[in-house]
Amino acid sequence: MELTLDNLLVALKAAGEETRLRVLALFKSGELTVTELVTVLRQSQPRISRHLRLLCEAGLLEKHREGTWIFYRLADGGNKANLAKSIMKYIPYSDQILQRDQERLTEVKKARDMKAAKYFQENAENWDKIRSLYVPERQVEDYLLEVTADLKINDLLDVGTGTGRMLELFSERAERGIGIDLSREMLAVARSHLEQETISHMQVRQGDMYDLALKDSSMDLVLFHQVLHFADDPHAAIKEASRILRPGGYVIIADFLPHKVEKLRDDYAHRRLGFSDEEVKEWCNITDLNIKSTEVMRGKELDIAVWVAIKN
Ligand SMILES: C[S@@+](CC[C@H](N)C(=O)[O-])C[C@H]1O[C@@H](n2cnc3c(N)ncnc32)[C@H](O)[C@@H]1O
Repeated sequence: MELTLDNLLVALKAAGEETRLRVLALFKSGELTVTELVTVLRQSQPRISRHLRLLCEAGLLEKHREGTWIFYRLADGGNKANLAKSIMKYIPYSDQILQRDQERLTEVKKARDMKAAKYFQENAENWDKIRSLYVPERQVEDYLLEVTADLKINDLLDVGTGTGRMLELFSERAERGIGIDLSREMLAVARSHLEQETISHMQVRQGDMYDLALKDSSMDLVLFHQVLHFADDPHAAIKEASRILRPGGYVIIADFLPHKVEKLRDDYAHRRLGFSDEEVKEWCNITDLNIKSTEVMRGKELDIAVWVAIKN
């Protein structure tokens, strides 16, 4: 749709106010909730909500509701999104006020990551029991092997490997494998599993899904098995996975479909309550990945989807 004079004016007016420009500046990457923005900007929730509403109405931000949380992100698609991105280019991040906001945002993100890290630290030993609580596990694993049957896997990367179960599953299919995880405790459990099973061509190391520290086009298969729902910027993680994939390589995402089990946030440190098919397809499409298949598996309380995308 063409940008009209009217909606250009609405968008510029929305951005042309100090707090709203500060809000926009915070959306350099990822999604944020109102509570997170309130903590960073130290203004009341009603004020921040009003600013967010104006920025959404102007088409510069988008929001989506998930259970009791609402996530906001920079608009992604169409003329207004281009306008939002252009405005972002001119934001002077070296400005003192904006710098302080960024520092507070880093603190907020750190506190959020610590919560998830603490959970994994405390639950590393029990993870294998916990992971099967909601998931038709055997069915997902069988399907992962089936859907990759024709893929020659010289190099495999398992993102958020946890206790290394995926490395074990693919140990006979892949020539070499690496599992990365942020949690040292999870990695310790993974290492001892791999040793017990005498799997020496699979290794684990500490790493971050947003910055994989691996060469471009160096992997045949990247797995995200029950990991993306912890991410605050799933699209950025998919982009990073695509970067390291060889042409024709697969990225596989196994995760929940949208659900309402809010207690997974409190009890299991989940950030997202599942992903819709449209959302995952959109991320893949704008990332040089073609969706090959989507398989839905119905669980007792929660449904799982396995998305397979191929690198162009
Ligand atoms: C649900 S658990 C393990 C899932 C594992 N793939 C499995 O199949 O059992 C998710 C893992 O993701 C890790 N994780 C969370 N955020 C991460 C990040 N930014 N980079 C790498 N790993 C991360 C956690 O430490 C945790 O071990």
